[in-house]
Amino acid sequence: MRILSGIQPSGTIHIGNYFGMIKKMIESQNDGELFAFIASYHALTSVKDKEFLQKNIFEAAVNFLSLGMDPEKSTFWVQSDVPEVLELYWILSNHTPMGLLERAHSYKDKVAKGIASNHGLFSYPVLMAADILLFDSDIVPVGKDQIQHVEMTRDIAQTFNNTYGDILTIPQHKIDEVVQSVPGTDGAKMSKSYGNTIDMFGTKKGLKKQVMKIVTDSTELDQPKQWQNCNVYTLCKLFMTDDELIQLQKRYATPGEGYGHFKLTLLDKINEHFAPYQERREHYLNNPDEVKEILAFGANKARKIAQEKLKIIRDAVGLNY
Ligand code: ADP
Ligand code: TRP
Repeated sequence: MRILSGIQPSGTIHIGNYFGMIKKMIESQNDGELFAFIASYHALTSVKDKEFLQKNIFEAAVNFLSLGMDPEKSTFWVQSDVPEVLELYWILSNHTPMGLLERAHSYKDKVAKGIASNHGLFSYPVLMAADILLFDSDIVPVGKDQIQHVEMTRDIAQTFNNTYGDILTIPQHKIDEVVQSVPGTDGAKMSKSYGNTIDMFGTKKGLKKQVMKIVTDSTELDQPKQWQNCNVYTLCKLFMTDDELIQLQKRYATPGEGYGHFKLTLLDKINEHFAPYQERREHYLNNPDEVKEILAFGANKARKIAQEKLKIIRDAVGLNY
């Protein structure tokens, strides 16, 4: 079973990205053959600053490797190092009805948020379909916002197969219902575009600032507190065992401690959780050539598979004569 996943290098990784996607991606290395890439072409739809994109691609690679991406076991590469995907993108464009793209929620949301509407943004789902179909992916683990894109991929692949025969593998999306949406410091969905994130690898000081910003109610120190709808507690759930959570519930119910104390507990838990990865992260940050070598190795592996599949597709449509 082939699992494929991509993440855009469009900003600092936060714990919403981690629990919503990255953690599962890393764990899925045990469930099947993982294909994971840094979606650098997709990032061009929102990032128009050269240094920012370069930095984000490199940091995304460092973060994934630090968190346990195994480049031997899995295939891990930067999307734009395998440009074959753009050829498939063009071929698929000719099997993508305009209406299908016009119905894309993600496109409509982005335009509503003020992102300039251009052809790259509009045809983004076709490139995503090419990513998925080029590698004969069976399963695509995604956040809720990306389900429609996988459905569009299925539609495009069906249309192609109806014309040329059974060439493309029809993928399925996979969503983890448990951690669909990690709340941000204001209680809304954590997102870099809302400025409510808690970074995964922030500095100690920066992280503390973010955690202290979490919105709570104004119950006084000498009153019992409700954990049920508390943002601090919801975030603690991501890091604590059941026993630890029961202890925390008791602390909420007992007057004497305030939300500041619970926030410090959360802060300790976050630091503790990511500490084992910090050392590896420092190593990769200080050895950029090693990271680039790993990415070149991954691109090479991905490229061989991409070229084989593309040959079959070129044959099917009549480009090989
Ligand atoms: P952002 O909203 O910060 O721009 P992206 O849209 O780049 O994040 O998301 C990258 C991946 O992380 C996607 O798979 C997305 O579903 C997941 N993700 C982002 N924010 C959250 C969140 N708050 N909770 C769970 N998953 C999230
Ligand atoms: N669009 C995805 C996101 O923003 C990233 C992505 C690009 C992707 N190509 C993909 C995800 C292929 C899964 C499969 O999160």
